[in-house]
Amino acid sequence: MTPQLLSFQPVTGALAVSTAGVLPDSAVGLAGIVGRSSVLRHVLERMRRVAATDASVLITGETGTGKELLARAIHQHSRRAARQLVPVNMAAVPEGLAAAELFGHERGAYTGADRARAGRFEVADRGTLFLDEIGELRPDVQVLLLRVLQEGEFERLGGTVSRRVDVRLVTATNRDVESEVREGRFRQDLFYRLNVFPIRLPPLRERPDDIPILADHFLQQTAARFDRCIQSIEPESMRRLLRYAWPGNIRQLQNVIERSVIMSDGGQLVVADSSLPDAPQGRPERGEAGLFAGNPTLEEIKKRYVNHLLTVTRGNMVRAAAILDVDRRSLYRMVERYQLGTPDLRRHWEDGLATRDSGLGTRSVDAEFIAEP
Ligand SMILES: Nc1ncnc2c1ncn2[C@@H]1O[C@H](COP(=O)(O)OP(=O)(O)OP(=O)(O)O)[C@@H](O)[C@H]1O
Ligand SMILES: [Mg+2]
Repeated sequence: MTPQLLSFQPVTGALAVSTAGVLPDSAVGLAGIVGRSSVLRHVLERMRRVAATDASVLITGETGTGKELLARAIHQHSRRAARQLVPVNMAAVPEGLAAAELFGHERGAYTGADRARAGRFEVADRGTLFLDEIGELRPDVQVLLLRVLQEGEFERLGGTVSRRVDVRLVTATNRDVESEVREGRFRQDLFYRLNVFPIRLPPLRERPDDIPILADHFLQQTAARFDRCIQSIEPESMRRLLRYAWPGNIRQLQNVIERSVIMSDGGQLVVADSSLPDAPQGRPERGEAGLFAGNPTLEEIKKRYVNHLLTVTRGNMVRAAAILDVDRRSLYRMVERYQLGTPDLRRHWEDGLATRDSGLGTRSVDAEFIAEP
């Protein structure tokens, strides 16, 4: 399967013509973002809407979920696209130098400052400033940042001239900043300023529909780079990828595919079990906590619950239907509506409908079932 990527030009106008916000059905390709799950579509729809404004965006998500990629997409689809996107990883700035990095300094502002230097805010003027890992900001820098956001001006360190810049701020973190606010480690007023428009990038295990298309995308990319002739992923390996919990998310998937390409002898790509470390079935947020995570809608709860039952019954339609107290056909309609399982598995369940209770629908299909999103 080749991912059908839609090439949008990195200008605001190009997105404006994308059929009034209806994202295409097969795959999504905004600024290199690949996927087809409804959760990702939702994220991209929010991205597209906010990109056109100057609102501050706070992107949250586990490591490797594509936060930086999304920040770049916001910039590319904004009216600032022709100007610079200036990324600053706050975790990589040495202790004590964050303020100078962001706001610049005058000559002699501190030991070693032998020349005046513009900070990242100045460099990003009329563009976008992407502050990554904002959970790392120290309290003194939080105060300075709040001031720029409130008053729109700042001074270089050791300077007296007030400077104004026109900067759109996008921030990201893999920490739970809200709990840091509750615990007093992150200023609430600053959090509100940064979190004008929150976007949460769900972990890969919550969007298994994206796994095949991403795996295939990375396969094509890597095979071309290493000049290897590998067209597709062996079915058993694909099932392995689908069952795995991906603690390192998309970055980990990319690495696993790259390594597998290097190790492979051609033909179909084989992903060894050993390349997927740590209990692949281990999923955080199971049970009630997972069911209610993120204040879901009633419809979302239904979807999660049906999915949960199909997981614990190992895909046994008869048992799952009995617990829900609905007939198998109704359960199957829910499976279709929520697109649970893989296409193969849905076909298998559909075949089961034609049989009596002793038929296919009564059998567990553990090995093939994609576990809870
Ligand atoms: N939807 C996607 N389609 C294609 N590539 C993706 C997608 N999401 C992430 N990637 C790729 O996965 C890798 C990790 O993405 P990125 O650096 O944006 O993650 P991150 O959330 O910023 O991670 P971290 O918290 O560790 O900094 C990158 O190589 C990126 O290009
Ligand atoms: Mg990042």
